Order: sequence, then structure tokens, then C-alpha cells
Amino acid sequence: MGTNDRSDQSRRQFMEFLLASPLFSYVVVPGLASGQRLGASGIDGPLADNFEITSAAQALNVFDLEEVARRNLPPAHYAYLATGVEADATLRANREGFAKYQIRPRRMVDTSRIDARVELFGTTWPTPIVLAPVSSLCAFHPEGEVAAAKAAGARNHLQVLSTLSTKSVEDVIAARGAPVWFQLYPTTDWAITRALVKRAEAAGCPVVAVTVDAPTASGRESLVRGKRIDSRDCTACHSAGPRYDFRRRPMFDRIDTSKLVTPLAADLTWDFVRRLQDITSMKVILKGIVTAEEAALALQHRVDGLIVSNHGGRGEESGRSTIESLPEVIEAVGGKMPVLVDSGFRRGTDIFKALALGANAVCVGRPYAWGLAAFGQAGVDRSLEILRAELETTMRSMGTPTVKSITHAFVQRA
Ligand SMILES: Cc1cc2nc3c(=O)[nH]c(=O)nc-3n(C[C@H](O)[C@H](O)[C@H](O)COP(=O)(O)O)c2cc1C
Repeated sequence: MGTNDRSDQSRRQFMEFLLASPLFSYVVVPGLASGQRLGASGIDGPLADNFEITSAAQALNVFDLEEVARRNLPPAHYAYLATGVEADATLRANREGFAKYQIRPRRMVDTSRIDARVELFGTTWPTPIVLAPVSSLCAFHPEGEVAAAKAAGARNHLQVLSTLSTKSVEDVIAARGAPVWFQLYPTTDWAITRALVKRAEAAGCPVVAVTVDAPTASGRESLVRGKRIDSRDCTACHSAGPRYDFRRRPMFDRIDTSKLVTPLAADLTWDFVRRLQDITSMKVILKGIVTAEEAALALQHRVDGLIVSNHGGRGEESGRSTIESLPEVIEAVGGKMPVLVDSGFRRGTDIFKALALGANAVCVGRPYAWGLAAFGQAGVDRSLEILRAELETTMRSMGTPTVKSITHAFVQRA
């Protein structure tokens, strides 16, 4: 054994020791200042550290599911889920943004019956909580998007499926028992884009959400760090090379992708939206709008809806939360199209604040992926159950029996 082999072995042993030790939670959890711990007291309760769960039902909040996900997943997969970009400032800002809004409760209102129904494009949902498109769910559980779809279907939540899903849109719709919305990465090749759109439409998707906040691969440093400490041989699932190979994803089956190097598109302009509207009968909405200027342009271009999103802090490092971006978008849109919002929503109170600021619905990404990684379908189900129960409790305690009654008067800037 040469000196290099020996030092490689001892480095690996050290990493294994680190991963097995409680210290792990202090060193590799991305997006948190050193010494801070996910699920720690302060934000999530003074006794959060004293609660280790062994079943989905035991989770008190979605952070409990994250803790199990973190333990279950290989470091590279957990880092993929957790990462923001660069210093993870936007990731943190998304959470911190909620503290900048306070809720003004009203009393003496009959809230014995809570009605959290919302309507989006003519369909009524029992809850405004939507499953955001999260790629590669099979990296978190073998049943991936199908498990998420079954859980979403059982509780009748709207689900948006990623272009980079690891189960096909047909399988997901079959598992869901109803159509899902389709998220589209624009790609640089119109023939491929067209084929993706036509397939989603044929499968029954009523809405296509074009992701406009990912013109390029972002600098996901926490992901890179997670990969570095993962000693497994990953070639069976990932092709050799620095990036995952999206061409293996089910949505690209039977599409010639030989000339395509990335599903992202740095040359995306409003012209793309017009072309897309011309070839599809699906509603076209944009995911990733965060300013009034873009919202006004979206109206001009006859876009059907918006998702205010910064990709869960994984797109640009703006340092700006989506809860703070939401008001200007709502004002620019003036009620002329539905506005959804995501990024950092973890509590019923977070969702309540967005509804009070004018959002029609709220998407969550990591919370249901944590549930999936922790306990499969049962974990997704529990994460949705928790968020729904928290929202309903908030509605009850704030004196707002319906979503419509959650007006701007219920929030103030701190
Ligand atoms: C692991 C992971 C994969 C994602 N994949 C996609 C994707 O394929 N397409 C997309 O538009 N957004 C994607 N997103 C962003 C989500 O749709 C959503 O904007 C974000 O997760 C919301 O923030 P949250 O995770 O803090 O709830 C992904 C997010 C995560 C965490």
C-alpha cells in the first residue's frame, strides 16, 4: 500500500467517523452558521433537540422529518436537497423573511368551521398547500414521485411535476388518480421543448409552469461539499462526469437529446412564452418571477399565472426572500391572474402570511421531500398533514374561517 493509498484510507476513515458522530450535524448542514443546528431551539422550540422520531406519526413539525431525512440519506443526496447557492444567503433569507411580518389576530369570530379551500383555474382544492416540482425524488426514496403523488392524491393536494422527475408523467398521474401540473425547463432546443410539452399535454396536465429563474447552473457550494464527503461509488446511477445526466430522465424517453447539453436556457426571453402559448392549450404560468416589472410584463404577454419563487434559494444569490418579493408582484398583478409563492415555507403561520399578502396558494418543496426521505409515502403524507393542521390552527386562532377572510389587515411589517 503506497503513502497516497494510506492517506486516502485514513481520510475515508476520518470521514466515516465524522458522519457517524453527532458532530456531523454541526459540520455539514448547509445554509446554517457554524455551531447552529437544524431543528434547534429558538425557531423550532426549546425542546426540539430532545425529540428523535421513529415513525412519521411522531413528527411534531416538518423539521422533525428533516432530521430523519438527514440521517437516512447519503451525504451527497442530503446536500442536493439542502443546498442553496454560494454562501446560502438566499436560502437563509427565505426563512428570515417570515420574521419580518407579524400577524394581527382578530377575536370574537366564529371559527368553529375552517374552510381552507382555494380555486385555481376553475378547480377547487381543499387546501392552498401545493407540492412544488422537485427533481430526482428517487434520490430520496425508491418510490420517488409516485409516493409523493399517492400522498398528494390521498389528501387532494395539487402537485407540480418536474421536467427532471425520476418517474414519468404518465406513471405519476396514474398514481395520483388525477392530473398534475407540469414544470418545464425550457431547454435550448425547441424540438425537445415541444416534445416535452406535447407529452405533458397528452398525459392530461392542465397547466405548464415554465421555470424562468434558472438560466444557468448555479454555484451550489454546499452540494459540492456534500459530494466530497460521500465515499460511495455513484456511477451506477450517475453517468461519469461532473453533472448528472438529465437525458436518462423518463420525460426525455424517445426524444433525441444528443445535441442538448443542458435543459436550462440562458437565452430565454418573452418570445419563448409566445411560442409556447402558440403550441399548447395548457395554461402557461411562469415560475421564478420576483419583481413588479416582470409581473407587469407577464400580464402584457398574456401569461395565465405566476409562481413567486427563487427556487428555494437555489437559483440566484439575491439575498432576498420571496415573502418580501410577494407584495410588489401582487400589486403589479392587481388580481388579474393567480399568484402562487414558494421558498422557505415550513409553518402554517408562514403560509398564512403569504395568503394575507395576497397569494392564492403556497408551494412547498423540501418539507415533503424530507418526509419522503424519512418515511416514504407515509412521510410525505405526514408533512402535508402537519402543514395543513398548522394552517388550520392559525386560521382558527387568527379569526379567519376562510382563505378569503385572510386579508392584508392580518399582517404588518415588523
Ligand atoms: C432538491 C430540489 C430539486 C428541485 N428541482 C426543481 C425542478 O426540477 N424544477 C423547478 O422548477 N424547481 C425545482 N426546485 C425548486 C422547487 O420547485 C421550489 O421552488 C423550492 O423547493 C421551494 O422552496 P422550499 O424547498 O424551501 O420549499 C427544486 C428544489 C429542490 C430542493
